[in-house]
Amino acid sequence: MLLGAQGQLDMEGALIARDRVGIQDFVLLDETTETAFLNNMRKRFNGDLIYTYIGTLLVSVNPYKELDIYNKKQIDLYMGVNFFELPPHIYALADNAYHTMLTELNNHFILISGESGAGKTEASKKILQYYAVSCPSTTLLDTVRDKMLMSNPVLEAFGNAKTLKNDNSSRFGKYMDIQFDSQGNAVGGHILNYLLEKSRVVHQNHGERNFHIFYQLVEGAEEDLLHQFGLQRDCKHYNYLIQGECAIVSSINDKNDWKTVKNALQVIDTDEINTNHLFGVIACVLHLGNIQFELDNKGHATSNSNAELRWVSTLLGVSAQTLQEGLTYRKIEAQKDEVLSPFTTDHAIYVRDALAKAIYGRTFTWLVDRINVSIENKDLSRKTVIGLLDIYGFEVFYVNSFEQFCINYCNEKLQQLFIQLTLKSEQEEYEAENIEWEPVQFFNNKIICDLIEERHRGVISILDEECLRPGDATDLTFLERLEEKIGNHPHFVTHKLADKMTRKTLERGDFRLLHYAGEVTYCVVGFLDKNNDLLYKNIKHLMCQSKNDIVRECFSTIDPDSRRRPETVATQFKSSLLKLTEILMAKEAWYVRCLKSNESKQPGKFDEALIRHQVKYLGLMEHLRVRRAGFAYRRKFEVFLQRYKPLCPATWPHWRGVPADGVEVLVQHLGYLPNEYKMGRTKIFIRYPRTLFATEDAFERSKHDLATRLQAKYRGYRAKGEFKKQKEAATKIETCWRGVQARKEREKRAWAVKVIKKFIKGYMTRREAKTTDNSEYLAFVRQSYLNRLRNNLPRTVLDKTTWLPPPPVCEETSEILHKLHTRLMVRRYVRRITPPQKAQLQLKVITSAIFKGKKDSYPQSVAQPFVETRISEQDVNMRVLQMIRNEHIKYSVPVIKYNRNGFKPRPRQLILTQTAAYVIDEAKIRQRVLYTSLKGISVSNLSDGIIVFHITCEDPKQKGDLVMQCDHLFEFLTKLGVVANKQSIIKVVQGSIKIEIQAGKESAVDFSTGQDPMVYKAKNGHLMVVSTRARAR
Ligand SMILES: Nc1ncnc2c1ncn2[C@@H]1O[C@H](COP(=O)(O)OP(=O)(O)OP(=O)(O)O)[C@@H](O)[C@H]1O
Ligand SMILES: [Mg+2]
Repeated sequence: MLLGAQGQLDMEGALIARDRVGIQDFVLLDETTETAFLNNMRKRFNGDLIYTYIGTLLVSVNPYKELDIYNKKQIDLYMGVNFFELPPHIYALADNAYHTMLTELNNHFILISGESGAGKTEASKKILQYYAVSCPSTTLLDTVRDKMLMSNPVLEAFGNAKTLKNDNSSRFGKYMDIQFDSQGNAVGGHILNYLLEKSRVVHQNHGERNFHIFYQLVEGAEEDLLHQFGLQRDCKHYNYLIQGECAIVSSINDKNDWKTVKNALQVIDTDEINTNHLFGVIACVLHLGNIQFELDNKGHATSNSNAELRWVSTLLGVSAQTLQEGLTYRKIEAQKDEVLSPFTTDHAIYVRDALAKAIYGRTFTWLVDRINVSIENKDLSRKTVIGLLDIYGFEVFYVNSFEQFCINYCNEKLQQLFIQLTLKSEQEEYEAENIEWEPVQFFNNKIICDLIEERHRGVISILDEECLRPGDATDLTFLERLEEKIGNHPHFVTHKLADKMTRKTLERGDFRLLHYAGEVTYCVVGFLDKNNDLLYKNIKHLMCQSKNDIVRECFSTIDPDSRRRPETVATQFKSSLLKLTEILMAKEAWYVRCLKSNESKQPGKFDEALIRHQVKYLGLMEHLRVRRAGFAYRRKFEVFLQRYKPLCPATWPHWRGVPADGVEVLVQHLGYLPNEYKMGRTKIFIRYPRTLFATEDAFERSKHDLATRLQAKYRGYRAKGEFKKQKEAATKIETCWRGVQARKEREKRAWAVKVIKKFIKGYMTRREAKTTDNSEYLAFVRQSYLNRLRNNLPRTVLDKTTWLPPPPVCEETSEILHKLHTRLMVRRYVRRITPPQKAQLQLKVITSAIFKGKKDSYPQSVAQPFVETRISEQDVNMRVLQMIRNEHIKYSVPVIKYNRNGFKPRPRQLILTQTAAYVIDEAKIRQRVLYTSLKGISVSNLSDGIIVFHITCEDPKQKGDLVMQCDHLFEFLTKLGVVANKQSIIKVVQGSIKIEIQAGKESAVDFSTGQDPMVYKAKNGHLMVVSTRARAR
């Protein structure tokens, strides 16, 4: 099945629990006998369970006591719960109708039927209360709801009365549409009222009362108001209130009800003036009732109730005189003349009562209109409605008149509607749908409806004919006509037509109708008058002039001069019922069948005979049989499939084939058993409510699932949308940004082009006269040169090559800067120099002056620092030291001396003193060269270390020029130059140096370059010095 095993158990468990007291649904009874039916009902009634279902029809038995089943908790309990899930209740029915309306988006009505006192009005109030509490609420809606709720006490005060059957009997029919918007909010309403029992205003049977409002006014109104209306606080004072002799009833609290009504009138927007006029009408009716008539001496009616007359004229705001005239004679227009036709007292009373009824009746209609204005929803959007029909119930009194005839006819019509909508149409539907079916016999009351309403032949037609025909038509001629025309109808009988036995129960002026609910004997007296409901034209005229707004409004709507005879009351009523039937037939029906538990309004009393009778005439057994044999639920395949398709994967989300096949697949999937359903031609029929109940439960559960799935889908869809939006936004931003970039780039390029152009122009005109272009260009050149220069300055004093070559425009600057920089470096360098370094440098400067650019080995020597001496004093022989003690030794260096005889090399020490240079050989001074005798010093331009001292040689014995080789040539010669102050005599010679070996004897030292350095005596007798090529620097 469609529930798991556990689920099924739970469900059945719940069903059993619900059935603990009797059976909750008569359909589930084992037997369909009347006895079983009544037993079940009694069992439940005794357990204060007044509601039982027959399928979806609710049977309610009046408990005549307050039961605690209508509180807020109960309302909450029944809200949105499956129909069969909780014990039967009027709330369950209301809720089911409401939810069906919301899901199927169609109109519904709840037909509440039952005889007078069965509880129809109470049921309708409970339903209204349920919607008021359970529907979504807002301040605005609450106002509408309050008005709808408050319309009840007002209408009940004016339209309900105590009868023998019911202390609060509805004496008018009421059909109320409650309008709901698509969200299920109760947003407005509309009331149709049907035929008020006006005769009650002027006459009440014994034990009955007039309409509640009269007593409420007299009992409840404030003294001031009573005074204003000329009333006394005593019902007995008023003829219209005393005929039933029961003005005070224990079950009714007129004082409290007065307050409720006054408050309710405010809620339904009746302002103070209207309220005053409304109660003025009631007071006026009371005064009218007290106007008495007497016969004057001519046998005409006159009134001497001047005070009452005055009050009526004051309250109506009409002339007392005219009023009195209107009540005592009639003006008849005969060939342009007006003839006054005085009344008899009876006639005057008749006219008085007619006026009282007319005023009251029309005021009641005015009140309904007023309520309709107040609860009207002006929003034109589509509404669905639930109609509530609460009409006076079937009633049988000891004496029944025209009113009972109308009331019972109305009930007959509703029964007919019920039959048509349930029994008949149900069976016809099975036939049409080809469902196998054993017809259930039932009594169709159409025959009675026809008897009453058929054109030309029905009771109403005959009555109308009598009312309209010229001549002396009376109630009795009407009876005769009935006997004539419908005398042989099985549901009609009169004294004359009856058999012996029946005749005993009938008066001569009676006719009896065998209604569906039982026989009712009607007394024909008053039928014609009541049907005519005549009011003389002059009275109507007078009412049109009333200063009471309500009365004037009520009478002005009808043209008093209209020549057309108004429709008779019965015909109007017939048409209004026809219209009602049409209204109802267009809606889906729900039924509440109210049963009266006993005649004496006693709590807890279950009058079996009375109830059996009602069960019978209401056709409940037939209904049950049709229900049992039939199917509890049916729906068009499309509708069923549409609702339950989520329960089967094959039908969800779409069934592509024929709906009937889809439904078959669906119910197979749900595990319906063959006896649980039937497939018709266009509909599926489900036999048991519980099958549907389980399906609905499964649907409810699946809804959550579905909702989650839909939600997920929707969220996905939303997210996708969001993503798309974001992407689009990103693209847009990107495009914008690219645009911005491109524009910037373009600007940059344009700027660059301009700058480059300017630059080129500046370049081309750089040598011309100063213009903006070239001066900018030159400034740029300058700046860029200076910038580059800054980063590329020479770092050492010796670096003379890295100076950045300047552009022509900066040549001068560059030169200055170069000098400055050099000076700066020099300055820095100089500052860092120590005194010994300084001395050294001074020497090097001298060396440079002598040798720079002249001798090949000079460059290598520059980096070699000069030292103090090359031979320390310890290394000089002591004797030598002693010998030259007087002269200060300035410098000593080892040399190789080439002697004059063959240029043999001899190592010697050469010591420079202040005055002379000494050639020392160990302890001997070999030669002393006084600086004064030193006339020249020669060296070669090559890289050898040969030094020649040219000495003045005047004496041949004297040694000649001195040829030496020294490894420290530059140091030695510089020191010598300084010591002897002989820089100027030092010469750098190319190729060969002439020497004087001794006076007059010359030789030479020749210089050349070769692979290896050599010094040897050449064949020519010269000293040959070969040196290696100095490395190119
Ligand atoms: N559900 C109920 N619970 C308690 N008392 C109820 C209930 N229904 C009806 N009654 C009693 O029965 C009385 C008559 O009920 P109600 O006025 O609804 O009858 P009705 O069917 O409208 O009769 P009528 O056709 O005369 O208007 C109520 O005043 C009330 O005392
Ligand atoms: Mg009622």
